[in-house]
Amino acid sequence: MRKGVDQNLNLYFLNVILLLFCFHEVCCSSLDNLASSMRMDKKADALLPEISPDAAPQPLLPLLAPSPLTPFTNSTVPKLSGLCMLNFDAVESMMNMTSTDCMAVFAPFLANVICCPQLEATLVILLGQSSKDTNMLALNGTHAKHCLSDFEQILVGQGANNNLQQICAIRPSNLTEGSCPVKNVNEFESTVDSSQLLSACGKIDLVNECCEQVCQNAISEAAKKLALKAYDLLSMDGSHALSDHSTRVNDCKSIILRWLASKLDPPQSKGILRGLSNCNINKGEARANRTFFRVCCNM
Ligand SMILES: *[C@@H]1O[C@H](CO)[C@@H](O)[C@H](O)[C@H]1NC(C)=O
Ligand SMILES: *[C@@H]1O[C@H](CO)[C@@H](O)[C@H](O)[C@H]1NC(C)=O
Ligand SMILES: *[C@@H]1O[C@H](CO)[C@@H](O)[C@H](O)[C@H]1NC(C)=O
Ligand SMILES: *[C@@H]1O[C@H](CO)[C@@H](O)[C@H](O)[C@H]1NC(C)=O
Ligand SMILES: *[C@@H]1O[C@H](CO)[C@@H](O)[C@H](O)[C@H]1NC(C)=O
Repeated sequence: MRKGVDQNLNLYFLNVILLLFCFHEVCCSSLDNLASSMRMDKKADALLPEISPDAAPQPLLPLLAPSPLTPFTNSTVPKLSGLCMLNFDAVESMMNMTSTDCMAVFAPFLANVICCPQLEATLVILLGQSSKDTNMLALNGTHAKHCLSDFEQILVGQGANNNLQQICAIRPSNLTEGSCPVKNVNEFESTVDSSQLLSACGKIDLVNECCEQVCQNAISEAAKKLALKAYDLLSMDGSHALSDHSTRVNDCKSIILRWLASKLDPPQSKGILRGLSNCNINKGEARANRTFFRVCCNM
């Protein structure tokens, strides 16, 4: 459980979302999964009050503005390191939405259900999209530090909470390859069955995915293949040997999600990532799982 999160409130929001989700006839239907993913997002966002970080002061701006070049608040100008080479433009609108989902006052309360899944999806897509330029699905430690800081600064400049690294338990290491032995795109594609991965995960059936796990199983299979590469490399690089197998498989799953996000357009990736993270929330919350599986999977 993440730090600073009120579990009961969190569970409450989860239940509200599950109820909305199930009572709006998306439940166990085979409606277009991306459409239902978007609808679910809207519902999640609707839980936030109808103020966006910049909406409130808007009417006053023309009166207060001495010139269009003067920033109204210093917080709108993020202090960037200049050392991060990620392609932030590729996820501009997602970052805008993340700022709203992680709005300063609400972020700690909506962390696990709204803010952090959105933040995590945005980071994965940022890394995936950037890999199209760099051919790498992970950053090195130094680069990761600068990039996570810049990422957070940009969000804060748009009204997000300035403690998101803590709230969502994101560290620079989450932008690296961790203990996964593969981060190069070519090596990735020569190790896993990429067309099978794309066909299983390129379009997921949002509700049935949680029960049938078509994409999740494909990701697990591919992660195991990537993880096994560590043993090929042992003679060359002892550092990978230090992690245990399940940690390594998990780290490789992150690499796989980034690769998927490099093959799909950002909105499509987002639907999939949010869908998968909803399955995890459902699985993780013991009290929610019975209801979910009985109602949604006819079990
Ligand atoms: C913004 O920054 C300027 C100088 O950097 C400072 O003089 C001003 O007081 C700041 N304004 C706010 C609202 O913090
Ligand atoms: C880390 O990655 C950055 C960007 O790709 C690169 O400029 C830098 O040299 C790398 N540093 C190390 C220590 O490998
Ligand atoms: C977010 O996007 C909307 C619509 O594109 C734009 O009007 C708004 O200024 C953006 N907000 C921020 C904080 O960048
Ligand atoms: C970040 O990495 C830590 C381990 O270093 C892991 O426990 C955590 O789940 C990761 N967070 C995300 C959002 O992937
Ligand atoms: C579902 O909840 C029950 C208790 O209600 C628990 O024993 C079980 O482990 C949970 N299953 C999963 C997959 O979380």
